[in-house]
Amino acid sequence: MAAKTHNPIDDNRQGLIGKGLNRVDGPLKVSGQAPYSYEFQVEGKIAYGYIVGAAIPRGRLLKLDTTNAENAPGVVLVLTHKNAPVQGEFGPAQPENSSMDRPKPFLNRTDIRYYGEPIAFVVANSYEAARNAAAMVNAEYSEEKTPRLSLKAETKNAYRPEKEGFGGPMDSSIGNFSTAFQNAPVQVDVTYTTPYQHHMAMEPHASLAIWEDDRLTIYSSQQLPVSCHETLAKTLLVPKENIRLICKYIGGGFGSKLYTEADAILSSLAARMLKRPVKIAQTRQQLFANTVHRGESLQRIRLGAELNGKLTAIGHDVWTQTASFDENVEQAASQTRSMYAAPNRLTTHRAVILDLPPSGAMRAPGEAMGMLALEQGMDELAVKLNMDPVELRIVNDTQEDPEKKIPFSSRALERCLREGAQRFGWDKRPKKPGELCDGDWLIGYGMAAAIRSNFIQESEARVVLTRDGKLRVEMAMTDIGTGTYTILTQIAAEAMSVPIEDVTVDIGDTNLPPTPGSGGSFGANSTGSALYDACMKLREQLVSLAISQADSPLYALAANSAEIDKGQVHIGGKSDSYAAIVARTSTQQVVVKGKITPPESYQKYAQAAFGGNFVEVGVHALTGEIRLRRMLGVFAAGRILNQKTAHSQLIGGMIWGVGAALLEGTIVDQRYGHYVNHDFAEYHVAVHADTPNIEAYFLPEEDDKTGPLKIKGVGELSICGAGAAVANAVFNACGVRVRDYPITLDKIISDLEEA
Ligand code: MOS
Repeated sequence: MAAKTHNPIDDNRQGLIGKGLNRVDGPLKVSGQAPYSYEFQVEGKIAYGYIVGAAIPRGRLLKLDTTNAENAPGVVLVLTHKNAPVQGEFGPAQPENSSMDRPKPFLNRTDIRYYGEPIAFVVANSYEAARNAAAMVNAEYSEEKTPRLSLKAETKNAYRPEKEGFGGPMDSSIGNFSTAFQNAPVQVDVTYTTPYQHHMAMEPHASLAIWEDDRLTIYSSQQLPVSCHETLAKTLLVPKENIRLICKYIGGGFGSKLYTEADAILSSLAARMLKRPVKIAQTRQQLFANTVHRGESLQRIRLGAELNGKLTAIGHDVWTQTASFDENVEQAASQTRSMYAAPNRLTTHRAVILDLPPSGAMRAPGEAMGMLALEQGMDELAVKLNMDPVELRIVNDTQEDPEKKIPFSSRALERCLREGAQRFGWDKRPKKPGELCDGDWLIGYGMAAAIRSNFIQESEARVVLTRDGKLRVEMAMTDIGTGTYTILTQIAAEAMSVPIEDVTVDIGDTNLPPTPGSGGSFGANSTGSALYDACMKLREQLVSLAISQADSPLYALAANSAEIDKGQVHIGGKSDSYAAIVARTSTQQVVVKGKITPPESYQKYAQAAFGGNFVEVGVHALTGEIRLRRMLGVFAAGRILNQKTAHSQLIGGMIWGVGAALLEGTIVDQRYGHYVNHDFAEYHVAVHADTPNIEAYFLPEEDDKTGPLKIKGVGELSICGAGAAVANAVFNACGVRVRDYPITLDKIISDLEEA
């Protein structure tokens, strides 16, 4: 068929692919008209829920007295383990379920497994009344066992998880690491630690549940509607067809909204009991315990190299926190398996059980944490070798995945590093710490490579063409702030050769065709490819319709010479518009489904996006204060769908990197197991004043092994390595090597004078 002979995304006749189109949902958002889950207007008098959390990290509820709370003004229900309905049982994440779509019951037990674990849910006529009464719930606990709260202290009890994580097997071993490392003329053997981190999206986890008889409609802030839908059905013990999840706009997720949390389950349970809508938004402080976090890690990096910088041995051992009842291991060594060539390699991951909330995926789970260690380790090696750190990376670059032994679909690391070095003025880098000053400020340059795996997942899409020639895109996808509405509009408009004004994108609703949702930087590739497939089928269908419609100018012409352009089908010198073709159908619309399944090229090629971050910092010679002065990232991530939204993703990741290097970290109270700095006053994230002068560039790249769009995921790429680049710049400035993130001034000031 004509439609199959070329790829309209390649043709890009309207120039929409790559264009820095403004967000199509921007006007709604800035005018306050984009409804977030908590804000939907619904029929019926809404009741408000408030979670009461446990005040101990490990033990048992002895008594739970809710009398005062129940009698408090405005209270309509106090839900506890005593009256909570039966729910699906929490099971292991695998094999039947993933950690994102299994049952997640709450208030179904009396043992306490982490500080803040929900022990009651107070529902009242107003938020204030619910919160007021929540303080009147009295709990007594027994604490028979000492809580395990320190990663370092518990490392002796670490174990190797049975199951695989996001990054594949827990361990890998190639060649003979220990011999090669021992024999290497230059060695680095260092241990880094990274702290607990919390996602803290602007929009908190929030849900609004409404039952009509046995049917639930829930508005909930979720990255993966289809998975959340599963969890709700399995937990509430209700058939999936009876549940509709709506999440039209999402104010950030970063991995924390991959999982269904207490707000969704408890509001659903309470609303069913009360027969009235119940809504809840978790408070900022509650989010620290009632959503996942990035676990603390201890990472040993061992690098053995020849004098010319060639690596002979790479070792990366990781220990991370996992919850007692829910195993999650952040595979921080997974990217080390792909990053640099070396004949002898060893990676391990060990889990350490602590009595803390479950850890989970947070922005580039694996790489973001692992690259803080690996890429600072590479810098330490460059210093030992007295070698330019850019050259050290290039010497060890590879076009073949060193452990999978398959070629990369594309890998432009060297080009990114060379281009970045040139644009940044890397040649002006101080060769030694203390060499370059600006008043009392010691100036340093640092760099690090970036890598993030590229994924695609099965997805469906539906397109509906109506008799006015307008196109509607439908799928159970989400836009978590990344720009999904916009890029789907661009893909559909270019694939169908219609103006963007003629395309509407309807997502965020489980009544629409299933998609994997937004996560792991796979959203654009998975859902965009499914949409592409739907559009290609729609093109074909329009041609076959036209040539079979007796009153079409194209009637009985040959399909194989059909051309599609500007909302019309052309055959020979004759044309027919989409609108006219649709108007001749009995249904007055043409509906087509598309689908993508992971292509074979994902088995044959290693898939990742690459980049390099370059950083200049100032370290105050007297106070140890660290200030970012400028930062540049150069990335190659396949074809770019939208320069503006992709650029924002990159800048955002780089800012996360600055935060990870210098600011972010949650501190566990070693007595009670709660997070001490559980608000934005004390959990410091990088803000404008911390991040001046950040720039990012994409190198042109099209990768025909990643799918029909030739794109790679960009969302999480730039965070992977950004923090290490900052750390390396700090060392280059002042000569103090801090291996315990974040690098705060107290960790450098004592060594500063000496250095
Ligand atoms: Mo991703 S960890 O879903 O931002």
